[in-house]
Amino acid sequence: MIWHPMSILAGQEKEISIVSAKDEYLYTDQGQKIIDAISSWWTCIHGHRHPKIMEAIRKQTESLDHVIFAGFTHEPAERLSDEILKTTKGDFEAVFFSDNGSNAIEIAVKLAVQFFKNKNLSKDSQRKTWIRFTKSYHGDSIGAMSLGGQSVFTRIFRDLNFPTKEYISPDCTNCPFAKSPDTCNVECLDEMAEDLKKNGEQFVGAVVEPLVSGANGMVFHDVKFLQRLRKLTQDKDIILVLDEVFTGLYRTGEWYAYQKAEIKPDMICIAKGLTGGTLPLALTLITEKIVDAFRSDDVNHAFYHGHTMAGSAIACSAALASLEILQETGEENISRFVSYFQLKKKTFDEKFAGKVKNIRHLGAIFAMEVVQDLGPDEYLNPIGRKIRAKALAEGVLIRPLGNTVYITPPYNIHKASLDQIFSVLEAILEKEFTLPA
Ligand SMILES: Cc1ncc(COP(=O)(O)O)c(C=O)c1O
Repeated sequence: MIWHPMSILAGQEKEISIVSAKDEYLYTDQGQKIIDAISSWWTCIHGHRHPKIMEAIRKQTESLDHVIFAGFTHEPAERLSDEILKTTKGDFEAVFFSDNGSNAIEIAVKLAVQFFKNKNLSKDSQRKTWIRFTKSYHGDSIGAMSLGGQSVFTRIFRDLNFPTKEYISPDCTNCPFAKSPDTCNVECLDEMAEDLKKNGEQFVGAVVEPLVSGANGMVFHDVKFLQRLRKLTQDKDIILVLDEVFTGLYRTGEWYAYQKAEIKPDMICIAKGLTGGTLPLALTLITEKIVDAFRSDDVNHAFYHGHTMAGSAIACSAALASLEILQETGEENISRFVSYFQLKKKTFDEKFAGKVKNIRHLGAIFAMEVVQDLGPDEYLNPIGRKIRAKALAEGVLIRPLGNTVYITPPYNIHKASLDQIFSVLEAILEKEFTLPA
């Protein structure tokens, strides 16, 4: 049998067999056409089988598939490294290749730890703890889980964590300090600021998803949070890693979410949409400051880390084609969502007041919470699965996170499909859910 991800083995749900895909559409073996409203876990940012990416893959197969990346290189990887660095306008110096988002995070963590070891400064020898946030998610490997917030994904494995200190996640839709953007002084970072004042040298680094915590509930925050976090970490020489696995590559409306905050992190991680959902590839982008600590003849200063399939030439060619599409159409495609989502927010706010709350959108992300009284607001809340099944029956693939219903469509989705997604959501909310008592 196949053990599918996130599946309940003795559950009633049976996997759906997909035989083909094109644009935002998936086609099942039963002849059903499904709109992929979440870009297949946020990867197929240009829809499925974009002709440019398919052509790039085909072409690459005619010359080089893959070669061991230690001691060897090739043109698609060199070009991808150059092109991706250009998208950051010179903020980063080096690119480390891997094959999924969790690994890109592990690499950033290990580089940060070794950065201090290589520098060998006695004042840094006590740096052991990582800063993490309550609603964050950085992947399913042990290191990535250490940095994630408390959730069904991480709870069972907490004993395996490396040392972390957890701080409250920013949430500007539903501010825990009851502040508005005008009155906010980023109070959610006050506790950390106090800790850093007392003993900032205990921390190696901080990892955060910029502007949107994705898998732990599509929780939004303002650029002010990132700006204060950068200042606090910089003042204490703490390495700031921004996890752009979900938010990067135009999902939030810019190449990277950190650019909206006009800050410079020490590293960023990119994966998900990098190859347009065609092949596994991830990148960790690293600043000159960190690279410098590794420029050494001492063999002990090398970074002994390498994933077997990192830098696959075919995956790099797919990524190059995907970047080209983003360069040509990214900005324009994402700008289409702004007024569309504004209108939908207004409609849903008026029509479903009391049934949904916290309606929010940014770039190509639209999210809201279904108000209900069926238990905790978290991933296992059964309402998510109910809504998912009802939408699927109507030909729309969504995957609510507990009672958080969201869509993250391909950037080039047809307007008719967006209309269809929202009319299915409206029908579900109209028919299925009564106002709580
Ligand atoms: C923000 C973020 N970081 C890291 C990851 C892990 O990526 P992967 O599933 O490719 O390991 C995810 C996956 O959902 C993510 O959303």
